[in-house]
Amino acid sequence: MKIVVIGGTGLIGSKLVKNLRERGHEAFAAAPSTGVNSITREGLAEALDGAAVVVDVANAPSWEDQAVLEFFQTSSRNLLAAEAAAGVRHHVALSIVGSERLPDNGYFRAKVAQENLIKASGIPYSILRATQFFEFVGGIAEAATVGEELRLSPALIQPIASDEVAAALTEVALAAPVNGTLEVAGPEAMPLDELVRRLLRATGDTRKVVADVHAGYFGSVLDDQSLTPGQSPRLGTIRFEDWLAQSTAAAGN
Ligand SMILES: NC(=O)c1ccc[n+]([C@@H]2O[C@H](COP(=O)([O-])OP(=O)(O)OC[C@H]3O[C@@H](n4cnc5c(N)ncnc54)[C@H](OP(=O)(O)O)[C@@H]3O)[C@@H](O)[C@H]2O)c1
Repeated sequence: MKIVVIGGTGLIGSKLVKNLRERGHEAFAAAPSTGVNSITREGLAEALDGAAVVVDVANAPSWEDQAVLEFFQTSSRNLLAAEAAAGVRHHVALSIVGSERLPDNGYFRAKVAQENLIKASGIPYSILRATQFFEFVGGIAEAATVGEELRLSPALIQPIASDEVAAALTEVALAAPVNGTLEVAGPEAMPLDELVRRLLRATGDTRKVVADVHAGYFGSVLDDQSLTPGQSPRLGTIRFEDWLAQSTAAAGN
């Protein structure tokens, strides 16, 4: 089966393309660097020719509120129109657990807009919402830095290894469309301040992490439900501590 992965050269996309090829499918990594641009539509019709499934794991180059909204809206509109023309039978997209619960966050608003366009498109679809990737925790830490301190909410977060997001997405792409939303999360929920403290400890970063219930997460105040999954998520098995040990060892080699 031909499967086009929009954003197929990125963190998740490259793992997904590899998984799909290992299962014997013709997976095409579509991205500006491979001649396919979902904003300008360059190469899009050609890439989608003969495709049964499109998986959208593209990401915006700028996360500024208006820029990120325009990226996900324009990209989704262009993709869905090209898919309708090409007769694509399943649109799969990767979104974020809790997007609608943090309307103060411009990135999350853009993901909700992307989801709404997909739901209204008439193309059979599956949306997989993942929690934050382990690889993203460093970015959370940097965004929380105030001088020599990091101020973080102690609200629960349940991050996941990107390998396990790609594995879940592989299953979703190869299954029938659910015309709904599925969730995937890591095996353990923990306070956000503690998660970042563990990262700093593992990387020898001596800065102080301060728990603060009012500390914003990219502009939003969190509670224990903001970033954690609902009733029946698919759960990964890789624990943050084990991933940290492995990735810091790999970085040392
Ligand atoms: N970070 C998290 O914790 C998290 C959690 C849940 C869900 N997500 C979602 O996961 C998805 C994938 O994230 P990621 O970290 O794997 O992204 P990433 O590593 O930044 O990769 C982004 C991909 O998008 C491609 N791209 C950029 N502009 C494009 C365009 N105009 N047309 C086509 N492709 C374009 C890039 O291509 P080039 O390499 O050519 O630039 C690259 O292949 C995102 O939609 C994000 O919202 C993220």
